[in-house]
Amino acid sequence: MQNFEELKQEALGAIRGAERMVDLRDAEVKYLGRSGKLTGILRGLKDLPEAERKVKGKEANTIRVILETEIAARTIALEKVEEDAKLSGKKIDITQPGIKHRRGGLHPLTKLRREAEQIFSSLGFEIVDGPEVEYEWYNFDALNIPVYHPARDMQDTFWIRADADPKKGRLLPRTHTSPVQIRFMEKHQPPFRIIVPGRVFRHEASDASHDIQFHQLEGLMIGRDISVAHFKHIIGSFFQKLFKREVVIRLRPSYFPFTEPSFEVDMSCLVCDGAGCSVCKQSGWLEMGGAGMVHPHVFKAAGLNPKEWQGFAFGFGIDRVAMMKYKIPDIRLFYSGDIRFLKQF
Ligand code: FA5
Repeated sequence: MQNFEELKQEALGAIRGAERMVDLRDAEVKYLGRSGKLTGILRGLKDLPEAERKVKGKEANTIRVILETEIAARTIALEKVEEDAKLSGKKIDITQPGIKHRRGGLHPLTKLRREAEQIFSSLGFEIVDGPEVEYEWYNFDALNIPVYHPARDMQDTFWIRADADPKKGRLLPRTHTSPVQIRFMEKHQPPFRIIVPGRVFRHEASDASHDIQFHQLEGLMIGRDISVAHFKHIIGSFFQKLFKREVVIRLRPSYFPFTEPSFEVDMSCLVCDGAGCSVCKQSGWLEMGGAGMVHPHVFKAAGLNPKEWQGFAFGFGIDRVAMMKYKIPDIRLFYSGDIRFLKQF
């Protein structure tokens, strides 16, 4: 049987000298494993006379505890060394350029709407909202468009519910933002000036400048002596501020049941600079919106006295304005969800 002290020193040397975890495990097996050296000694004790067995047994057990304690300490030390080695390989190099995260952006129509809101706010207009699903009364009747009037055909409608309300009629996704004129006048006394940006829906064929959903910007300015001259000035200032350049605008006589007189507002096409393209249907002009002086029937439907108040209303297609501003050749691109298109804004 090997001298205990020798065995202990040999084992301690192996444990303390282990540079890697695998070496430590080898040493553990060599001395304390099932066929290890110390285990062999402990097993052989049974053949010794009792007195000697007691002494040797105690000694062997003491060595076992010492070795186990030493192995535990060395395990902790080696784990730390290995962890440190792993981490040092993953050091962050702060001199390297960072990884760019792709950020989302605002949709061009949102950008344009916000810009328009800012410009009109600076001109003293309040920004007002209204429901996208509307009653027939607000969308048509109160705007002087009764049920069997041919003017209803001007705005092809998706109908939702036929029996919505006995007084306010059927429900529909609004075909224009003009119903908010009535809703606002019902609750507010003039003088006031408001704009209403919002989404509208029409049951019509789509092409480069028409879609089934689009956005309008309604405007309403009411006072005791508001005239067409005010409208021309306001709308001229708006387009000039928006396009940051001189733009040519023309007013064409037109017809809307809710304004009298009525006109169409055209702008010289900025996509082709008036030369003619698919957006302006080769005419060099693009219809941006309708406008006019609020009809007395509309004041009456909203509960205001037309002898006391007068003013103008307008409704612009925001998509068309955005097409001019960003030179976009097809309105359907706005709703395509095409990331190559959206990334440009
Ligand atoms: C109206 O919707 C009136 N409510 C505008 C108005 C308001 C007139 C207040 C008088 C007083 P109109 O149907 O012409 O009018 O539409 C207004 C604008 O919306 C058009 O000039 C055009 O710029 C835009 N627009 C109309 N239909 C479409 C469509 N299908 N796709 C994209 N834009 C459209």
